[in-house]
Amino acid sequence: MLKADLAGVGVIGTGRAGLVHCKNFAENVPGARLISVCDADTGKAEQAARQFGVTAYNRTSDFLSDPALDAVVVATPTFTHAEVVQEAAAAGKAILCEKPLAVTEAEAESMAEAVEKNRVVFLMGFMRRFDQNFIRAREIIQRGDIGEPLMIKSTGKGPGLPPSWNLDISKSNGMLAEVNSHDFDSVRFLTGQDFRWVFAAARNNKCPQYAENYPDFYDTAIVTFGLSGKVMGSIDGACPADYGYDARVEVQGTDGVMFIGSIARKGIVIGSKEAGVVEEIVDSWRSLFKDAYLAEDRALIDCLIGGKEPPSRLEDGWKALQAVLASNRSIKNGVVEYL
Ligand SMILES: NC(=O)c1ccc[n+]([C@@H]2O[C@H](COP(=O)([O-])OP(=O)(O)OC[C@H]3O[C@@H](n4cnc5c(N)ncnc54)[C@H](O)[C@@H]3O)[C@@H](O)[C@H]2O)c1
Repeated sequence: MLKADLAGVGVIGTGRAGLVHCKNFAENVPGARLISVCDADTGKAEQAARQFGVTAYNRTSDFLSDPALDAVVVATPTFTHAEVVQEAAAAGKAILCEKPLAVTEAEAESMAEAVEKNRVVFLMGFMRRFDQNFIRAREIIQRGDIGEPLMIKSTGKGPGLPPSWNLDISKSNGMLAEVNSHDFDSVRFLTGQDFRWVFAAARNNKCPQYAENYPDFYDTAIVTFGLSGKVMGSIDGACPADYGYDARVEVQGTDGVMFIGSIARKGIVIGSKEAGVVEEIVDSWRSLFKDAYLAEDRALIDCLIGGKEPPSRLEDGWKALQAVLASNRSIKNGVVEYL
């Protein structure tokens, strides 16, 4: 039950993802206001607090003890999600947890238990589930416009390397988790089917400087898979892709095909004698999914105040994690892994 008209929201982890949520809650989420930020790095917490005019904390327990805090966005590195989410649930706060859910299944289980025990709202940060193109694509599939889905190809590539804690696969589960979690979840979101087997391969093609300290590190990966229904497919990822942010999906059905996404930034086409016809490229997940992150943040408040069901659940994060873990096992063992 809310204590005030406006839900008090705090963001823990004021890095790349955290600042996107801070801006949304500070400016643009009806029924909510950003009241605090927390970061283990005091300087970063204070900088974000100054930027948004809110209170800064550097200890999770102090941050969570504010009675005015109703909801928490967890945007710390993946290997900290389990601990932070358990503390937030025990403090009775509604939670939006950034993807990936966790690093291990044991962590996922402890998070699920804490959320259930404390009966708190939990929204999984799969923003594609809030993106109008993905929502429409799912409706088109469900309406049967392309017949029964048979094959799906999902591409997820980022322009640069994510923060350095991702280099250590034991802390991050690597690029398939950090970047392609979204693809694993979109495949389930679009088809309504679960992963049954995966076969994956990966290489470090562009980052030889990390090979010695992080021998398992990979920057290029491909996963083929079969789902619980008829659908088979592939997920491919590369990071750094250098040319831009590339998130595209192709779905082939018995009666047609559908393409979601483009590397062209919509709206501007430049024509010149020298360059011909040129479109701008999508440069970042921040710009491509700007509206989706906002819709996701608004959904947290709809769940908290309006009692709506989360469109993206902890179980969805757990299923994506299982597919990522199976893919990493397949990379290591060179065999098909079953889920
Ligand atoms: N949905 C998306 O598209 C998307 C995009 C980027 C990142 N992410 C996810 O968001 C999370 C954060 O990623 P990022 O790229 O913003 O990382 P980042 O390294 O840029 O930021 C993480 C911040 O958390 C702080 N931190 C670390 N441990 C902490 C702790 N125990 N308590 C409080 N603060 C702590 C760090 O000091 C840092 O400021 C990851 O899980 C990542 O996968 C999601």
